[in-house]
Amino acid sequence: ENTVKIGLLGCGNVGQGVIKGILLHSNKILRKLGITLVVSKALVQDISKERAIEGVVLTQKPQDILDDPEIEVVVEVMGGEHPTYSFIKKALAKGKHVVTANKLLLALYGAELQEIAQHKGICLLYEGSVLGGIPILRTIQYGLAGDQVKKICGILNGTTNYILTQMAESGKGYEEALREAQEAGYAESDPTMDVTGLDAACKLVILCRECFELEIPLEEVEIDGIQGLTTEEVAEQKKQGRVPKLVAEASIIECSSSGPEKGREGIVAKVGVQWLSGEAILSHVSGVDNGLSLETQLVGDLFWKGPGAGGLATGGAVLSDIVEIAKKVVAERSIGNAAR
Ligand code: NDP
Ligand code: HSE
Repeated sequence: ENTVKIGLLGCGNVGQGVIKGILLHSNKILRKLGITLVVSKALVQDISKERAIEGVVLTQKPQDILDDPEIEVVVEVMGGEHPTYSFIKKALAKGKHVVTANKLLLALYGAELQEIAQHKGICLLYEGSVLGGIPILRTIQYGLAGDQVKKICGILNGTTNYILTQMAESGKGYEEALREAQEAGYAESDPTMDVTGLDAACKLVILCRECFELEIPLEEVEIDGIQGLTTEEVAEQKKQGRVPKLVAEASIIECSSSGPEKGREGIVAKVGVQWLSGEAILSHVSGVDNGLSLETQLVGDLFWKGPGAGGLATGGAVLSDIVEIAKKVVAERSIGNAAR
């Protein structure tokens, strides 16, 4: 009765991280409530690939998951804009709860998809989409519910931070460091998204939505990436005590008027390389870690740091969303049973 069936759309780095997380049975809340999570099916492109997926049926047909009435939670860890957009819309239309780690999709269609989910009274959760393993969205949504974020500043991409750290600390070349980030499962399937700053910009759009409750279109974020940085330039700056970091920043533009129009006009947001001295807190965020500073009205300055990418770290964040939904699903079932 307390089993919740999950269908994965995608079973790569993050998908297998989710499966590993579930198989470790480490979630104390689920143990206490007697809830069992079962990944019954996973959509992939190539069924013959080797994967760690005990007991999961692989399929190449999305309808095997989207039309399965037993699957109550669809977890999208495929990536990309299409066909994921239509898969998620179909899952929501069928009343299935959705978890996704897809920042591109959320930056482009997050507001629309959230509205559909709210209208249907189901969940669309996406903790894994921003800052990998750092549980930042729930912290903003619950922990800072009574506060107002005024400024966002952070390192939001693990791949570029890994590359820049390797270039600065080990003198490695850009290409070699990028290859290592890909092998470790940090990079996007097309790493252009990482190195151009687009991935960080998508996460910034999502953070703006959560922190400011305002939309900034992705194309309005000023974006500059790390391509073109040379090991020589990095070594030269290091002698002056500076390291390169891909920093994402956003703040609210306050309306200057003091009359009835006084208020928030919009958002200014940008992503680009900054050369930071040791005094800057973000200069100490290295390797695949992400770091985030939030300036808030009531608490003041806050800072988080932790793994920003990787199958297990992100799998854990995705699993936290699944657990939240599973608790809701089981509670609703018991209310339904009691009413019968
Ligand atoms: P992978 O490339 O490792 O996995 C993608 C999976 O989706 C694969 O199993 C692939 O199948 C499947 N897939 C892709 N396209 C299709 C398609 N058209 N039809 C069927 N199956 C498809 O990606 P990741 O696991 O690294 O990332 C997944 C998502 O999570 C992305 O949105 C990414 O941005 C996000 N994310 C990733 C993080 C990370 O550290 N890697 C961190 C945070 C978010 P097959 O295996 O057969 O090729
Ligand atoms: N490619 C992304 C990164 C994955 O390196 O940060 C985590 O979102």
